[in-house]
Amino acid sequence: MSNPSLLILPGDGIGPEVMAEVRRIIDWYGAKRGLVFDVSEDLVGGCAYDAHGTPLHDDTMAKAQEVDAVLLGAVGGPKYDSLDFSLKPERGLLRLRKEMDLYANLRPAQCFDALADFSSLKTDVVAGLDIMIVRELTSGVYFGEPRGIFEEGNERVGINTQRYTESEIDRVARSAFELAMRRNRKLCSMEKANVMESGVLWREVVTEVGKDYPEVALTHMYADAGAMQLTRWPKQFDVIVTDNLFGDLLSDLAAMLTGSLGMLPSASLGAPMANGRPKALYEPVHGSAPDIAGQGKANPIACILSFAMALRYSFDQGAEADRLEKAVERVLADGLRTADLLGQEGVAPVTTAEMGSAILAALD
Ligand code: NAI
Ligand code: MG
Repeated sequence: MSNPSLLILPGDGIGPEVMAEVRRIIDWYGAKRGLVFDVSEDLVGGCAYDAHGTPLHDDTMAKAQEVDAVLLGAVGGPKYDSLDFSLKPERGLLRLRKEMDLYANLRPAQCFDALADFSSLKTDVVAGLDIMIVRELTSGVYFGEPRGIFEEGNERVGINTQRYTESEIDRVARSAFELAMRRNRKLCSMEKANVMESGVLWREVVTEVGKDYPEVALTHMYADAGAMQLTRWPKQFDVIVTDNLFGDLLSDLAAMLTGSLGMLPSASLGAPMANGRPKALYEPVHGSAPDIAGQGKANPIACILSFAMALRYSFDQGAEADRLEKAVERVLADGLRTADLLGQEGVAPVTTAEMGSAILAALD
């Protein structure tokens, strides 16, 4: 059998810096665990525009459709701010998500004990927190028609439309149930069925899909109540599934319960391919951080944890993903901090490469 394939798109700014640390970890898995990937690397974002005049070359897009998983750093930077909208670095990322039809966005909110007092919430509220938000990513109010700003009488009206088909709800619900089966068999679905018809349909379809997963304890919550519960006692949740708009807000809220942008991974999954694996793009939540790019200050952990998600969800290597997450935990417990993780005075920050080396050492 051929090796699993991975397309790496480091992108712009700190993207290549954090990805360099992931490359070392990928090499470690090959050398020490016999887990060899066919890795190819290509351009996305501003660097692709510089090379080809487009933020995502067709050849790169085609490659992304063929591999088992894509791992992306970050795109963008002030240099590209004046470009036409269609040429902006972000368009490269949007094209990947759209053409791969990545409808389930997985955003974990996980609290490493060593960082529990870094949270804005009380330590006992977040210590040990490990939840996963599944956000529908390709439909809903960000895409529904009609949309626009129109003249109506003697004033303007701004319109966006929340629209969900049954099949769109069904497929993202299935992703969430599958995830719940791998975790603690607990799923909470959030919408506003009290005031939105699309929410009523959402609740009905999720309940229907739930019949195929009788082992999963399914609950429903209005999304506004969900926001309150997430800040009051987040540990009551395990997997949460919600629509594009509510998911945008709730995943950002949940993520920040646990600290820095430099720690947050994500996965975007689509339909299963011929080999049964979902189409998949893994990337840190953060951007290209032009303010610290090129200075060796970036925290590589978000990108490293994104690779851990790839191990788990694309390559069926859950135990190896656990190993990598444990290594990160260990390094943090040892007190290593990149600059973004430093609240207090008197601790000297480590560089991107020093953090990567420490994680490699912990893996050993
Ligand atoms: P950003 O996430 O790049 O940075 C926000 C703040 O967090 C900055 O102060 C940055 O230094 C810090 N930060 C981010 N990641 C970090 C890390 N790994 N380690 C340490 N500190 C980190 O967001 P911003 O500044 O709004 O956007 C910068 C550029 O990135 C823009 O061009 C934007 O369009 C793009 N962007 C790209 C995204 C992507 O590729 N998925 C997502 C968000 C923004
Ligand atoms: Mg957002």
